[in-house]
Amino acid sequence: MTVITKRGKLPKTPHTEFYYLPGVLSLEEIHGTYGFSGPYSRKLHIRSYPTEQSKPPKKADFNFVVKAAPDDTLQPYHILTHNIPFEGDPIQGRKAVLFGSSTIVSVSKPIKSMAENVFFKNGDKHEIYYIQDGEGVLKTDYGNLSIRKGLYLIVPKGTPYRIEISSKNAFFLLFESSYMTTFPPNYMNNTGQATLMAPVIETEIDVPELQEPIDKKGDYLLDVKHTGGKITRLALSHHPFDIVGWEGSLYPFSFDINNHHGISREIHTAPPMRQTFQSGTAPHNGFSICSFVSQMEGWHPKDIAAPYAHSNVDSDEMMFFSFGEYTAREGVIKAGSMTFHPASLPHSPHGDSALRSMSLRGKLNKMLAVMLDTFFESLTVTECGYEFRDKDYAMSWYKAANETTAVKT
Ligand SMILES: [Fe+2]
Repeated sequence: MTVITKRGKLPKTPHTEFYYLPGVLSLEEIHGTYGFSGPYSRKLHIRSYPTEQSKPPKKADFNFVVKAAPDDTLQPYHILTHNIPFEGDPIQGRKAVLFGSSTIVSVSKPIKSMAENVFFKNGDKHEIYYIQDGEGVLKTDYGNLSIRKGLYLIVPKGTPYRIEISSKNAFFLLFESSYMTTFPPNYMNNTGQATLMAPVIETEIDVPELQEPIDKKGDYLLDVKHTGGKITRLALSHHPFDIVGWEGSLYPFSFDINNHHGISREIHTAPPMRQTFQSGTAPHNGFSICSFVSQMEGWHPKDIAAPYAHSNVDSDEMMFFSFGEYTAREGVIKAGSMTFHPASLPHSPHGDSALRSMSLRGKLNKMLAVMLDTFFESLTVTECGYEFRDKDYAMSWYKAANETTAVKT
């Protein structure tokens, strides 16, 4: 993040004495990336270091070590995430569906909040949640962020947090990456500010509202994800939300998908115009996140709104359909559909989608989807993704083409 922010109280000069409570020295912590050289924030704890464990660490009774599908035949996938059951809490209920060397895509469909006095910290990866459904609050030591449909929630690696839901259940899509989340560098000027042509404006983020520091001793359990999905449970003697102030450029934030401001042109607009976030650096590592919000289709008198078939030979592509309508794949996908198209195969609209899409020329095409394109990592379907697959997906184009022909003859 490039927006340097400050919340609460802390001394103007770093690493100098400060007393939030009279006579009690506040203690500084740096939450930083890339060694001591990347984006970071400075936090001030009311009286205790975050290292104080009251009991020896122990392995949790759950973990997130991913297991590959039993079948590695090259094929496109359609994972029916709407059929994955609602269960568990926001953390323990997460289920990975795709994974690679530095990326994991999961779904979490919780029916309850996290247990009281239990916190989670992903010490392994940065996180991006997309809220498909549900309401609640993300509570972090940086403060609170509301949870509601259509939000992206960005949680940097190493942030202690808990999720409380206020709706009957919730539906989260989760991207994890070894690399930090930023707005796309290609839309930033050389000082890190979004250019006037950018579809995203970095100041449209919501920053956590810092709460009063919780100055309480007790048993606070922090489940830390580490080393490829293992979970170790730490017992902290002091409440982890004991921050009196913080400042810097590494912090959780939210961004509404509807604040991705579409860019159209006379003929079909390619996905880079839809890029909202980036993790890592193309072409070396990480991925791009694109927001397919409703878009004005091309107004060229012969424009075809449906996309072309594409062989994007370097990127594996995941697309999550938040809203069930999508002209190019009408009749195949519905809300909650996740398609996964490996780089080794082309993918395309089907049947007579190209013909039908001409009626959208110069009109608003309603859609809502989130896409992840890797730079240029290969992803693998997990056991869970395989279990909830549409078994006939690889044949869906052929089937649609033949049905279209049958109608015409
Ligand atoms: Fe695609």
